[in-house]
Amino acid sequence: MNEFETKYLSSGLPFVTLKLAQTLDGNIATCTGDSKWITSKTSRVRGHQLRAEADAILVGRGTVMADDPELSVRHVDGCSPTKIVLDTQLKIGLNARIFGGAPLIIATTKEVCRKRIKERKNKGAQVWQLPILNGQINLKAVLQKAAQMGLRHILIEGGSRVAASALCLGLVDRIAAFIAPKILGAGIPAIGSLDIASITDAIALENVKVEAIGNDFLFTARVKKSP
Ligand SMILES: NC(=O)c1ccc[n+]([C@@H]2O[C@H](COP(=O)([O-])OP(=O)(O)OC[C@H]3O[C@@H](n4cnc5c(N)ncnc54)[C@H](OP(=O)(O)O)[C@@H]3O)[C@@H](O)[C@H]2O)c1
Repeated sequence: MNEFETKYLSSGLPFVTLKLAQTLDGNIATCTGDSKWITSKTSRVRGHQLRAEADAILVGRGTVMADDPELSVRHVDGCSPTKIVLDTQLKIGLNARIFGGAPLIIATTKEVCRKRIKERKNKGAQVWQLPILNGQINLKAVLQKAAQMGLRHILIEGGSRVAASALCLGLVDRIAAFIAPKILGAGIPAIGSLDIASITDAIALENVKVEAIGNDFLFTARVKKSP
């Protein structure tokens, strides 16, 4: 049994990898939201390998509206996984590129208007109406529903706020951070606020591996689970 199966069977949740493509100083985009491209082509090919190994890619509305990504596997052989997007008010436009290609799930709330749901269903998307937690879609509920659908390995690709939500709720199992030799100063941080005041409360990582990919580094580690 692989680690994805073990997590799924023991917790009813998918195994979650959080992927970041960041500068040395921890930014995933400039202060204007520009993020293309922080890492090298070789790193991006490796990023597509991670996509091909996942059952679904999950991102927030901010990423879709800033980057208009396809979220597909293009640089390596393999199937493009299901896409899951968090969009509380169904603000993502119907012409966004995520509506093409692999199946799309839009996670939203129970309060959104029926017309918007219908429009998205007509474009082929599934719409999940889920409970709210602190004004946003309850990410644990998204992952539970994903697991019920048989999605056992989820790759979270950002952005900053989604990464923070996932870490805050203890939902991330593994981090794969591509680190480029670039500095942006005050940009968009790889991980948004976690409200951590003391170093002793930092999220600890273990089983750290670092691999050089051209001039970039791929840092992988497990999130240490609290006992
Ligand atoms: N270099 C990289 O690896 C990388 C990867 C991805 C993105 N990016 C960059 O990151 C930026 C976008 O990041 P971002 O932080 O602004 O946006 P984000 O994390 O992609 O999306 C955040 C939005 O998702 C919605 N959301 C719903 N439920 C949520 C939940 N439980 N937790 C968090 N968000 C939830 C909220 O919008 P609603 O309330 O409207 O639903 C929230 O504002 C862009 O500039 C993009 O280029 C970089």
